[in-house]
Amino acid sequence: MSNPANPPAVGVLDQGPELTFPPGFLWGAATAAYQIEGAATEGGRTPSIWDTFSHAEGRTVGGHTGDVACDHYHRMPSDVRLMADLGLRSYRFSVSWPRVQPGGAGPVNQEGMDFYRRLVDELLAHGVEPWLTLYHWDLPQPLEDAGGWPARDTAARFADYAQLVADAVGDRVKYFTTLNEPWCSAFLGYGSGVHAPGRSDGADAVRAGHHLMLGHGLAVQALRTARPAAQLGITVNLYPVTPAGDSPQDADAARRIDGLANRFFLDPVLRGAYPADLRADLRAVTDFGHVRDGDLAVISTPLDMVGVNYYSRHVVAAPVEGVEREAYWRAQSCWPGSEDVRFVTRGVPVTDMDWEIDAPGLLETLERVHRDYTDLPLYITENGSAFVDAVADGRVDDPDRLAYFDSHLRAAHAAISAGVPLKGYFAWSLMDNFEWAWGYTKRFGMVYVDYDSQARIPKSSARWYAEVIRRNGLAAAQ
Ligand code: FCB
Repeated sequence: MSNPANPPAVGVLDQGPELTFPPGFLWGAATAAYQIEGAATEGGRTPSIWDTFSHAEGRTVGGHTGDVACDHYHRMPSDVRLMADLGLRSYRFSVSWPRVQPGGAGPVNQEGMDFYRRLVDELLAHGVEPWLTLYHWDLPQPLEDAGGWPARDTAARFADYAQLVADAVGDRVKYFTTLNEPWCSAFLGYGSGVHAPGRSDGADAVRAGHHLMLGHGLAVQALRTARPAAQLGITVNLYPVTPAGDSPQDADAARRIDGLANRFFLDPVLRGAYPADLRADLRAVTDFGHVRDGDLAVISTPLDMVGVNYYSRHVVAAPVEGVEREAYWRAQSCWPGSEDVRFVTRGVPVTDMDWEIDAPGLLETLERVHRDYTDLPLYITENGSAFVDAVADGRVDDPDRLAYFDSHLRAAHAAISAGVPLKGYFAWSLMDNFEWAWGYTKRFGMVYVDYDSQARIPKSSARWYAEVIRRNGLAAAQ
């Protein structure tokens, strides 16, 4: 913990030269509906899988739920003022599907949609570009009851919902992300079950991943027709995957995890095919019978940009020979077909999530996507870190979070210098919020939230970020 009597001066942690970003670089911050809105039963909103999951016994730390969260639903105008005060050029938010289309079918719930109409108007009035994510994990519960993402029909339902949102706010929203991190929806939701809906079945996870991408492709087609001028993309969470040692077995472990974590989504969306080695790795899990003719053409419908969420790196090693993991572990793995791969920690500094801090991994990731997959503009749609914060004399000093942002922005700048068409950066997150299974115990915000009073306190990282935006770059080391 830093000494509050002697807070670090803005910029003091900069570790390199002054760096300027290209003109028009889109500086923003991100949130997601269930993590901040609260008002879970107001205005006609019905439960999502995250309402059900967080209310079930033992699913989240402390039994925390998003019932109130940051109460953003009621505090939206002052939250937008806060964004404007920080100088944000863009704000990435998600629409709560069960708020605007209760139950996931049927007509628009105008009262729910009005919230997003007001949000978009408010953002535009403050000069903040709205960036709308359609799906950040809050599937309407009745759609889960009908089979959830492992069921093919959910993809069609998603496209209908996309159409409703485009009709309502598409005239004022330029940037649309279809899905946020389909890996988490599929493999944490239906594989390990640590996320909603909390099911554990490898084949279902693979089917869910496919139908999420199918829904993405159908939604892109609907949005393209409804809003030809919009910029359409998807957000994937990518990790460099490094073998722990030099052995061919460790290299194979890395290939497998890279297949499931990264190429499972990148290849179908950007190349129109599942990788052959991934299909082989999954042979004992699924025969891919859920993939129908024409699906991959829909999934690879052309996009305008790709969103990358980056947090950390995976370092993996081969299974220990002769030692199989316990049946319990294997049944609840988010790595179907590769359950015995070991995840290794290297003893490097970690965040409060225990995620290794690895800024060069961001450069590696961006270069890979550009080199191996696409010339499309890339955006970092999330990047950030959780650390323990404390309020002292009404201030929150967070030098570790500030240093994380600084080092990752330097990596982002290096990517641009290396020729990657990186067009923007969204800090995760604008404010502390409901961190899924971790509830309110992990703080990712640049703005501190006192959950008792709902007071917002910009941390020193927020003040530093405002200065980065103002100068369109990083100050030199002092
Ligand atoms: C990402 C999610 C986001 C938040 C951050 C920490 O996986 O998209 O909602 O939980 O991690």
